[in-house]
Amino acid sequence: MTLPAIATTVAELRRALSPWRKDGIALVPTMGALHDGHLALVAAAKERTPHVAVSIFVNPTQFAPHEDFNSYPRTLEADREKLARANASLIFAPFAREMYPDGFATTVSLKGPAMGLETDFRPHFFDGVATIVAKLLIAAAPDYAMFGEKDYQQLLVVRRLVQDLNLPVEIIAVPVARESDGLAMSSRNAYLAPAERVVAGRLNGVMKDVISRMARGTGVVEAQAFGAAALKDAGFDSVDYVAVRDAQTLAPLTVLQEPARLLVAARIGKTRLIDNMAV
Ligand code: PAF
Repeated sequence: MTLPAIATTVAELRRALSPWRKDGIALVPTMGALHDGHLALVAAAKERTPHVAVSIFVNPTQFAPHEDFNSYPRTLEADREKLARANASLIFAPFAREMYPDGFATTVSLKGPAMGLETDFRPHFFDGVATIVAKLLIAAAPDYAMFGEKDYQQLLVVRRLVQDLNLPVEIIAVPVARESDGLAMSSRNAYLAPAERVVAGRLNGVMKDVISRMARGTGVVEAQAFGAAALKDAGFDSVDYVAVRDAQTLAPLTVLQEPARLLVAARIGKTRLIDNMAV
């Protein structure tokens, strides 16, 4: 098995990508601790081009001081082996000072799809994501960049960012990868203790129930309230939001209009899970 090379600086990344430009390049931005959801992004990228670069960078600016930046799993060697099996071409794993040199003073900040939902609970988050994604897209200048629908609001933020900054890249959305009980794959699932993992597995059923209630005529506001109560009954410690939104703008809906999206964030112990589904 040939392991993909690792570039740690933007200059090395650009040098490594340069011979592949004529065939097209895909970038899969990640924070590592790779699971099958990430590998589905690589597989979707491989359908478009043989040259797939995967960035692995636990981005400090998208974590608040009280969040899990220090404990976030860092598994570069295991990730590299998984990427070798997935036939990825290159890993970009920069040190923090490469992405945030001394005196760093630039932030990319969005309104639009970044307003509300995650921002109500993690106000720092999308500025950090938008800044690092813009830097990665400028550094790699890929033809395609792959993002999971698991982070649905993030996907819309990235699409807006690319449009607003005229970045010449096609953003490809890849459906949520799920465990057999429906739990969306996430690197943070590794934090769940066995009893918490059982509770986490109930999220999928509650979401489906909210959607089927709306299909049978329950109003949006009532269905959201039902979902929040059902998650508490299922063992979640707290619910940040259960929200039915316009799928393209994330504008709140009071009456169901398609295309809509159900988005949920809830906590079990110290772990915060997010998920979403088309309505
Ligand atoms: O979704 C993620 O893993 C991260 O938010 C991303 C897009 C790699 C930016 O750090």
